[in-house]
Amino acid sequence: MKKELLTKFEEIFGTEGKYQVYFAPGRVNLIGEHTDYNGGHVFPCALTIGTYAVARKREDSVLRFYSMNFENLGVIESSVIDLVMKKEDDWANYPKGVIWALQQKGYRLESGLDILYFGNIPNGAGLSSSASIEVLTGFVLKDFFGLDFDLTELALISQFAENKFIGVNCGIMDQFAIARGRKNNAIFLDTADLSYDYAPLELGDAKIVIMNTNKRRGLGDSKYNERRSECDSALADLQKVVNIKALGELTQEEFETHKSAIQNPTHVKRAMHAVYENQRTIRAVEALKKQDLALFGKLMNASHESLQYDYEVTGIELDTIVAAARKQEGVIGARMTGAGFGGCAVSIVEEAGIEAFIEKVGKEYKDQIGYEAAFYVVETGDGPVVL
Ligand code: GLA
Repeated sequence: MKKELLTKFEEIFGTEGKYQVYFAPGRVNLIGEHTDYNGGHVFPCALTIGTYAVARKREDSVLRFYSMNFENLGVIESSVIDLVMKKEDDWANYPKGVIWALQQKGYRLESGLDILYFGNIPNGAGLSSSASIEVLTGFVLKDFFGLDFDLTELALISQFAENKFIGVNCGIMDQFAIARGRKNNAIFLDTADLSYDYAPLELGDAKIVIMNTNKRRGLGDSKYNERRSECDSALADLQKVVNIKALGELTQEEFETHKSAIQNPTHVKRAMHAVYENQRTIRAVEALKKQDLALFGKLMNASHESLQYDYEVTGIELDTIVAAARKQEGVIGARMTGAGFGGCAVSIVEEAGIEAFIEKVGKEYKDQIGYEAAFYVVETGDGPVVL
């Protein structure tokens, strides 16, 4: 891989100067969906698939970006100064956004850069290909210019870029999971205060199988921001009767006591998901620690149901693939993952049954939806590294 990247880098940017190769992972969220902007818990893990970068410092203040995934777009150029989001810059708005965010936070970049990217995460599938590029870019800049921030700050800078430069109001989960990824572990993160704990992912003879519906989604054109404001509105109603800063502070019982304060019946359902999903995530992590994988799987299933009926972010493709998965032998749990509205679902499947699982779920999905799904048997991985 490294050799291929270097050959391409030299072909595009020339052979002079010192370059360095980097990698940052993608992520999959096991449970705790749409809780990260409600002050709740999430439980994602970093993967071994991700994004590579080759970078070299320039003498001037020019930034040149090239992606082996979008070769038709060629080299995209910009200046370190006056960075603005431009539609025609397409994917390069992500690294531009991070450089902009760093400057907004007061970090100084001495010069421009040439950077080549290559990613092996399917784009727009809910495995955080964009957060992977963002965190990777921040990591490259930290390394090149000796910037002084830790991995949590790296995640926050990347999220700031996504929120304020790209304009997607995402929570902290994706960037945090990528920046602080650890092989064989998932991260139990409390988004209320960013405290976190690693939980060993002891799945016995089972593996994580990601099922891609191949229905593309982009956060920008989804109902993501709409769900956020529905939760905010429910919170504002609740705050009239109970002293809380976020929905994640409520237990299920407290929610049931106070939910009549929420005016809009749809908002009651949204808030109910946020509260119950947070509690489910806490229970799921406890179950995993006790090696009760069966309970962990049941909670994954319940998470999907809540996202389907109360939060309403699944859609026919995700519901079909998850229902097909649940019917198979050796399946411990299955649910949509990420923002929803298409993209991927995640399942935990006994290793011996994986081949048959992929075949049967694939067939049922194609029969019902009309096009193929894709399957990835994934491994957990570490956060960003210099290669
Ligand atoms: C996207 C966002 C995350 C999170 C999930 C839903 O992946 O980027 O911040 O809100 O959706 O859990």
